[in-house]
Amino acid sequence: MQEKKGIYIETYGCQMNLNDSEIVSSIVQEAGFLIEKKIEKADMIFINTCSVRENAERRIFERLIHLKQYKKRKPRLIVALLGCMAKNLQAELLEKSEILDFVVGPDEYRKLPELIREAFNKNRALAVQPNNAETYDDIIPYRENSISAFVSIMRGCNNFCSYCVVPYTRGRERSRKSASIVREVKSLSKKGIKEITFLGQNVNSYFCPESKIHFASLLENCAAANPHIWFRFMTSHPKDMSDELIEVISSYENICKHLHFPLQSGANRILRMMNRKYTYEHYLSLVEKIRLKNPDCAISTDIISGFPSETIEEHKQTLSALKTIRYDSAFMFKYSQRPRTKAEHFPDDLPEEEKIRRLNEIIALQSSISRELNKNEIGKIHLALVEGKSKRNPKQWRARSGTNKLIIFDLPEVEIKIGDLIELKITKSTSATLFGEFV
Ligand code: 5AD
Ligand code: SF4
Repeated sequence: MQEKKGIYIETYGCQMNLNDSEIVSSIVQEAGFLIEKKIEKADMIFINTCSVRENAERRIFERLIHLKQYKKRKPRLIVALLGCMAKNLQAELLEKSEILDFVVGPDEYRKLPELIREAFNKNRALAVQPNNAETYDDIIPYRENSISAFVSIMRGCNNFCSYCVVPYTRGRERSRKSASIVREVKSLSKKGIKEITFLGQNVNSYFCPESKIHFASLLENCAAANPHIWFRFMTSHPKDMSDELIEVISSYENICKHLHFPLQSGANRILRMMNRKYTYEHYLSLVEKIRLKNPDCAISTDIISGFPSETIEEHKQTLSALKTIRYDSAFMFKYSQRPRTKAEHFPDDLPEEEKIRRLNEIIALQSSISRELNKNEIGKIHLALVEGKSKRNPKQWRARSGTNKLIIFDLPEVEIKIGDLIELKITKSTSATLFGEFV
């Protein structure tokens, strides 16, 4: 009997991509291939890519150059590029990188078995057609983590923020049927999963085409039916933050008190140019509403610094927004011009050094706020889910609170295993991490 061919998958970018790699794993295993953990042993290498910033694409090009050595050593090795970059650059990728055997976009993963067959017949291929109906509803992602699971509930995005390539790489917004999500959650619950994160580029605009239920009801139904599972969700767009959703978050103990809520800029003119569809004042009123209902809710954000034509005054408005809102944490980026987006036509007029200076100022401010907020946690007791050994110090373990804070702790005398919910008293903190002891 012929031995099964093994595939090594490398994933870049957002959680959606991680979940897509799990969907890909499921499709190829169904077709008779193996998922290989060691790159050296693989017959095929799949790179699942991200296009959100130019930097992400540059890293992947560097990786492809590095992979040439593998192909030299193993001439029959198949190398494929998947995901957003495939859709963004298409045929250019096959021209630029001769090591690629095929290139496949996010809506065409069902074609993988056929693309692999063609690649073994030495035919290079490009599969990047958009399919605005594809939700991979019937495919059960192949998950290695038995404690936490990502569940994509919708794909694509219709928001067309002027800087963002996602609506072009991942296509139009479409929600999965609620019945299929509920089925997946039930099956994860039977397997003993402790934490589920609902994913979508714009998760809170979810709307089931069949049952007509919105995100708040989906979340409520799942949380009520599975009280032993922690529910998280990301990413929420401010324009879709309903009172009903705020109410649901506060009504269920097993809905984590953490909201990822991108602001992008504190200046209204820039928000308008970004096509974010809210003003800073409206955003702030939403944060106030959330905190009124859920005083302990942690809020994190995304900020883009150095957007075209951003003045010093507008940059200061972003700093001032950070000071007012006091986010628990933030992902902060330097503006990166992307092809086909509306902002591509705005002159990218800030000098590189100025963009870097503004970004560093934002990072320094946010890090001092995170440090102060984390200091306030000292002495408090957090319920946290044990994730495993600490990445830095193997003698210590790590757990995550409902508020999404990483807590490092020493192993106590009692037996503790991954997936346990434990109480930790915070003893020390930095801007990014809490340290606690078992109580
Ligand atoms: N430049 C910089 N940051 C970007 N993001 C998306 N597109 C760009 C871009 N062109 C950031 C936004 C978004 C996060 C996922 O990535 O802040 O919320
Ligand atoms: Fe991009 Fe805006 Fe859609 Fe987020 S909401 S994926 S930033 S277009």
